[in-house]
Amino acid sequence: MINKIGIIGGGNIGGVLVSEIVSRRLARNVGLVDVKEPEFAKGKCLDVAEATPVFASDVNCEGSKTYEVIEGADFVINTAGVPRTMRPDGTFPSRDELLAINLKITDFVAAGIKKYAPNAIVISIANPLDAIVYRLFKKLKFKPSRIMGMAGVLDSARYKYFVAREANVSVENVEAVVLGGHGDTMVPIRSACRIYGLPVEQFISKAKLDAIEKRTRGAGGEVVSLLGSGSAFVSPAVSALEMVEAIAFDKRKITPVAAYLDGEYGVKGLFVGVPVILGKNGIEEIIKIKLTPEEKKALAGSVAAVKKTSDEVDKTK
Ligand code: LAC
Repeated sequence: MINKIGIIGGGNIGGVLVSEIVSRRLARNVGLVDVKEPEFAKGKCLDVAEATPVFASDVNCEGSKTYEVIEGADFVINTAGVPRTMRPDGTFPSRDELLAINLKITDFVAAGIKKYAPNAIVISIANPLDAIVYRLFKKLKFKPSRIMGMAGVLDSARYKYFVAREANVSVENVEAVVLGGHGDTMVPIRSACRIYGLPVEQFISKAKLDAIEKRTRGAGGEVVSLLGSGSAFVSPAVSALEMVEAIAFDKRKITPVAAYLDGEYGVKGLFVGVPVILGKNGIEEIIKIKLTPEEKKALAGSVAAVKKTSDEVDKTK
């Protein structure tokens, strides 16, 4: 059993994380940090803790404005930052436009993790995802196998969901993966999309697949514009927990994550969404999949977008 999971940021994603960890009895302890006054994280944790008899779950939940609550955590999930939200004129920012504000918050997060949970495996969700996890990596200097971003599980889940609805089959019958950055340039990999092990084109027309892949790329924004305030939170939270479970139970599960690449896929020194094996050491191996020339080109475009935000990070000391 996991002794402790630390969660940074008690917003919507952090809240779902705490209650899901309790309902799954995934760890002995959950420590939640949020700087919000007066004692937001404490209140959030007390709310869930008071439900533990109903959940029949003995997970201790502790919330605080300071980082001691994550002391000794085996996992830290970072959700700290402002989410995308609708502006009064109905538009909303891209994930990349959150960089300046969320970068400042990330430096506090890195300091807290470094001090209290230097041996944790870190999974970062805050946006712009690939740049924020890159900053954490630069500050923490953890082994690349122990720090990763959650995006591929979510983006692939969205792709699977749209495919399943269109083909009118169970979501369990669909296998799909989205690679690249967690931005508007992400790359749904049609050549690896299967329904019951068969090529997806056998079930869905090319034109419909084009539309599904476009919707996948904009899926986070679609939720932002429907909610009117804030962004998706259940799907990102459970996606991060899928990664925690794969590692904690040493499943060696092939999962797309934002991983530090050192030459794989022709990329060096950036965090980009690729399939990896998740096991007890975190990222155990990066899996290479064969892409079509169009997919390769799209991935290169997505990597260029990630490089742009990561370069911005490097400019901000
Ligand atoms: C999304 C946000 C969490 O994709 O990035 O919904």
